[in-house]
Amino acid sequence: GIGVSALLKETGVVTYDPGFMNTASVESAITYIDGDEGVLLYRGYPIEELAAHSSFLEVSYLLTHGELPKHGQLEGWVERVERHTHLHDNFKALIGAFPANAHPMAVLSSAVSALPGYYPESVDPFDPQTVELATVLLLAKAPTIAAYAHRRALGQQMIGPHRGIGYVGDFLRMAFQPNGALYEVDPVMVKALDLLLILHADHEQNCSTSTVRIVGSSHANLYASVSAGINALSGPLHGGANEAVLRMLTEIRDSGGDASDFMRRVKDKEAGVRLMGFGHRVYKNYDPRAAIVKKMADEVLSKLGKRDDLLDIAMGLEDIALNDDYFIERKLYPNVDFYTGLLYKAMGFQTRMFTPLFAVGRMPGWIAQWREMMKDPATKIGRPRQVYVGPQRRSYTELEDR
Ligand code: ACO
Repeated sequence: GIGVSALLKETGVVTYDPGFMNTASVESAITYIDGDEGVLLYRGYPIEELAAHSSFLEVSYLLTHGELPKHGQLEGWVERVERHTHLHDNFKALIGAFPANAHPMAVLSSAVSALPGYYPESVDPFDPQTVELATVLLLAKAPTIAAYAHRRALGQQMIGPHRGIGYVGDFLRMAFQPNGALYEVDPVMVKALDLLLILHADHEQNCSTSTVRIVGSSHANLYASVSAGINALSGPLHGGANEAVLRMLTEIRDSGGDASDFMRRVKDKEAGVRLMGFGHRVYKNYDPRAAIVKKMADEVLSKLGKRDDLLDIAMGLEDIALNDDYFIERKLYPNVDFYTGLLYKAMGFQTRMFTPLFAVGRMPGWIAQWREMMKDPATKIGRPRQVYVGPQRRSYTELEDR
């Protein structure tokens, strides 16, 4: 028979679906989520297995290429990405031109928008080699830009990459090496950050990814599309939630640490009071990423000797929520952001860097989704319909008659 979209077209019927709660806009073979069961698979592989055995760059290859790299392929891929981590010297000037108190998400999205200006040979969306180059360049330069933004915000001199200590190790070095001093990379931190990046690598058609796709559907280049995704991620209901969680935990601690009083205000729906880091459009069960981060936060913070009272407050809030009818009825569980901020903080990142770290992690997902869309013959320019509710036709009134 006739397909649903053809039927709607034929009958002139338009679906009204705010927030696209029930509208699939693509067929995708990248990420599978079962929100009721709390399942997350990248290209079929469970997130728990990837978290236990893989690395962020291997997962990036898997997402963007469809299969795990074979022996030899992985080394070549890692080598290629690490070879491109440096940035043109003018980039320091570009980032240095921002006021030191600029939000690093503004710096990151602007810098990614600027990249095609420096690499004009990598913008053709339909030439496979060019797309591969843009993929490598984006993955390679994201941590360098994020580290620059971090140092800029602290008023520190920006330092460039140094090969040989690994992608994540060098990211930490670029962020934290004191001016003119040596920096020893802590393997516990490298492992923790690598794992956090894996957990953020893709999450199918969320707000930022749908943004990347809709921008790319006009055949805008990969950088322009990803930069739009970074801006979508900056909102507090999406990537900004990890920042909001830490602010919430700090406020609870500073006002005496009474978690139950805060929860009362959440349940009373006091204006602006939500349990940040809880709830998800798709997960109506424990977010499998949150389970992994929670376990790691406990382990890593203890190992680093940085277990703090905010973790106890977070665990206390979770305990209350998991036993409270308000949260049970609405199926509200911790999402990935509930515990990530505590880890980023223990690593030494300022709260404002949390969302840029999410963006570095989400980079392979955005790229993979954009690549899939560009190859899909069913792709059309994104152009939703609307239900018009404004005034009927009326005539212009002169200013003096209004
Ligand atoms: N705290 C308290 N109540 C909540 C919360 C929360 N965090 N989240 C949802 N609710 C309530 C709503 O008030 C609503 O109650 P009602 O039925 O009485 O009206 C019900 O649960 C359903 O919530 P919606 O807002 O309709 O759910 P939606 O799917 O639109 O929103 C969202 C999902 C935006 C994630 C929401 O749960 C939220 O704001 N959470 C806090 C912010 C957050 O953590 N965002 C990160 C998302 S994950 C990510 O981007 C990586």
